[in-house]
Amino acid sequence: MDILELMKKRYSAKKYNADKAIPQEKIEALKEVLYLSPSSINIQPWKFTFVQNPEVKAQLAQVSMHNTEKVNQAQLLVVFSVADDLDAFQQIVETELPEARRNWYNQIRASKSETDMKTWLSQQVYIALGVGLTASIALGLDSTAMEGIESDKYKEILNMSAFKPLFAMSVGYGAEDDFNRIEVMPKSRRFLDSVIESI
Ligand SMILES: Cc1cc2nc3c(=O)[nH]c(=O)nc-3n(C[C@H](O)[C@H](O)[C@H](O)COP(=O)(O)O)c2cc1C
Repeated sequence: MDILELMKKRYSAKKYNADKAIPQEKIEALKEVLYLSPSSINIQPWKFTFVQNPEVKAQLAQVSMHNTEKVNQAQLLVVFSVADDLDAFQQIVETELPEARRNWYNQIRASKSETDMKTWLSQQVYIALGVGLTASIALGLDSTAMEGIESDKYKEILNMSAFKPLFAMSVGYGAEDDFNRIEVMPKSRRFLDSVIESI
């Protein structure tokens, strides 16, 4: 299926088939795809937590606002977190990034306030969400982006210190009777001519 067909087919699942297992190789492929996500200066300020453990997933579901049912039903929950402790992240930069990137990062850090740094780092994580949503449908899986999570409680449950959960993505197979299935609910978007400008 070409990319346009895939994008027309994907939709935000609102109800999942809780009984249909995702082949593990698809989950492993999704991990590798997210790992390859692009970011500004290749800074990669993220952590992707793949939750398949039903008990942990149920705990997260409880603190997922209007998304509780989806998190419980979907067989996989991917939590997208951003580096939130800049000094701790500096250690990662020193250890894992090549010198040129490190120097570039240090220049940016020296020139921005802590708030602006954190905003910039968070923006990078949203790129990975776009990659994850597209990769899911390419793998034949349905998904839902979810900003509706209680970040502090996710952080506690996942035992994070230097990273902070920003949003999550549930992944699985959409239920046959999901009102939001593409066959039932046509794609809704603004006017194409108002969004796309061609010069
Ligand atoms: C960053 C982001 C956060 C979202 N948060 C939620 C959410 O918490 N719960 C939910 O059901 N849908 C959520 N959505 C889904 C959007 O409402 C959906 O993508 C949009 O209405 C377009 O519909 P479509 O994805 O079916 O094409 C989110 C989407 C994005 C990109």
